[in-house]
Amino acid sequence: MSDFWSIWISVITFVVILGSVWLLMANRKTEVKGDLAEGEIPKTGHAYDGIEEYDNPLPAWWFWMFIASAVFSLVYLLLYPGLGNYKGLLGWTQESQWQERVDSANRVLDEQYEIYAATAIDDLAADPAALRMGRRLFNNNCSLCHGIGGVGANGFPDLSDSDWLYGGSAEAIIHSITQGRQGVMPAWGAALGDRGVEDVADFVMSLSGLPFDMQRAARGASQYQMFCVSCHGRDGGGMQALGAPNLKDNIWLYNQADTSLLENIRHSIRNGRNGAMPNHGEKLRAEKIHLISAYVYSLSQTNQQP
Ligand code: HEC
Ligand code: HEC
Repeated sequence: MSDFWSIWISVITFVVILGSVWLLMANRKTEVKGDLAEGEIPKTGHAYDGIEEYDNPLPAWWFWMFIASAVFSLVYLLLYPGLGNYKGLLGWTQESQWQERVDSANRVLDEQYEIYAATAIDDLAADPAALRMGRRLFNNNCSLCHGIGGVGANGFPDLSDSDWLYGGSAEAIIHSITQGRQGVMPAWGAALGDRGVEDVADFVMSLSGLPFDMQRAARGASQYQMFCVSCHGRDGGGMQALGAPNLKDNIWLYNQADTSLLENIRHSIRNGRNGAMPNHGEKLRAEKIHLISAYVYSLSQTNQQP
């Protein structure tokens, strides 16, 4: 809140408190004026249908309680903030109270993280409480791309199967998350021409045992030997050091649902692909990455949700 508004509110509060006290004092009467007969109670002079209003002084207990609450309000204003950046005699602010609570919650969480950080990934992958934390972190940070439960989507690898672009060991997973990954599949449309792309696509289909055109695939095989083995391997098994996918397991990173698989493969070859896994090393602390990795690791180990 800006200084102007907090001073504005403080001034109104002061004026209201002082005004109420003034109203009380101005209306206060301690002794009964005028000539009254012995035992007669003074009246205000107001009469309604023969009922008259007494004019007694305020009871002392009521009066003093009113004064006490006015004093309480003034003391409260001094102790707690209200005047611009004046923090009050106790130095209390909403922000500092919030921060204190966050800090204390974090201290509890930190202890938990430390215990998990000192535990090996394989052991964590068998610890349901750790996996629950890992899954929560995963769903918050990763599911946007990899889907809830890591099932993947077109262009985003399925992390719950045992097919890995870069490797499924605990180290490889931590590396993927911390440093990020860049998959670079060059575009071959210019080098191969349309026919070349179709030929080699049919050869790729044949690697996974999918329906293919014999003649095209035979021509594609020699193109493959020339242009593709350096990354995807002689037999099409892929290369994890480059993130080059295995082409013979019938698991596809790029398989847009509204097009046939053959078209998707042609598209990959013709235009190339550039999958980017953002690095999370700066965004997430190491303890969190450790827990997320345990969760991701567990997905392909057991294929079970904790
Ligand atoms: C902006 C989207 C995006 C986000 C967010 C993201 N990823 Fe990825 N991730 C990708 C893409 C795309 C790839 C594949 C990179 C490639 O094609 O080479 C990938 C690859 C990976 C791999 C390697 C998979 C393999 O087969 O080797 C792992 C492990 C992984 N991500 C885990 C995570 C985790 C854990 C998180 C959350 C901390 C996360 N990712 C967040 C897009 C994302
Ligand atoms: C420089 C290394 C390299 C070369 C050479 C290369 N690729 Fe790739 N290829 C990759 C990488 C890396 C990916 C994964 C891209 C990504 O993660 O976005 C890929 C992806 C693919 C895909 C998509 C796989 C999927 O699961 O959707 C196909 C199909 C493919 N390549 C076929 C070929 C063919 C055919 C050739 C030869 C004409 C070839 N590649 C040459 C590195 C290469």
